[in-house]
Amino acid sequence: MRTWTPQKIRALKGARRFAAVTCYDATSAAIVEALGPDALPLVLVGDSLGMIMQGHDSPLPVTMDAMVYHTQCVGRALRTAFLLADLPFGAYQVSDEEGLRNALRLVKEGGADGVKLEGGERVVPLVRRLVEAGVPVCGHLGLTPQSCLAMGGFKVQGRDPQAAERLLRDARALEAAGCFALVAEGVPAALGGRLAAELAIPVVGIGAGPGTDGQILVWQDLLGLTQGRVPKFVRRFGALGDAATAALTAYAAAVADGTFPAEGETYA
Ligand code: KIV
Repeated sequence: MRTWTPQKIRALKGARRFAAVTCYDATSAAIVEALGPDALPLVLVGDSLGMIMQGHDSPLPVTMDAMVYHTQCVGRALRTAFLLADLPFGAYQVSDEEGLRNALRLVKEGGADGVKLEGGERVVPLVRRLVEAGVPVCGHLGLTPQSCLAMGGFKVQGRDPQAAERLLRDARALEAAGCFALVAEGVPAALGGRLAAELAIPVVGIGAGPGTDGQILVWQDLLGLTQGRVPKFVRRFGALGDAATAALTAYAAAVADGTFPAEGETYA
């Protein structure tokens, strides 16, 4: 078992704000691990891997097999952070039975410590079954990318008072059903703050303003690896894309001009 448990993550509420990050491979997970046990208590294998790793324009095509594979990759290098994995689109919409079976796959085959799923009151019966089965569950409300077709794109949610009230109702229902945390994505800052203030479980924001208990960003976005435009809420804390471009350019030039490999890089 990893060091960070749902109980310890819940206990962060009100104690300190915390950062979380997505991760899809073992090399990146080893970097998280090297930071020490307290820097990033929660790592998410998000279905954003559909866009980030697979090049799709939404998470909709992501399969259970892909989620299990990437969760296994991350899990091999992660010893301390809580390993959360997304139930992808289609894995829990047909029936709660199937949702339960797929969540158990993420835990048993993938090595996840818990699962995240999108939706409010609609998914409460499934959340209850998962919790009863011993699977820690994180909810996900607001801009839920798996609903991009229904929402007409990736749009900020909960802007009008009725939508905000609905979202708060959904959040309370998820908490009552046993979620140990909630991701709030793409909602106005005031609503992000209200969610954190009204719930007893930690609210982890992404594009939800500064008032949440924690923040999560996509690995490639925060490290500056994502090409093109990134959402307004992303801050690039690094420029690894530029560093990679410079390194690859230098490598190609060194091969072309014969300076690589040098004597010290060659077997006698
Ligand atoms: O899939 C994902 O990466 C997510 C985060 C953006 C929260 O759900």
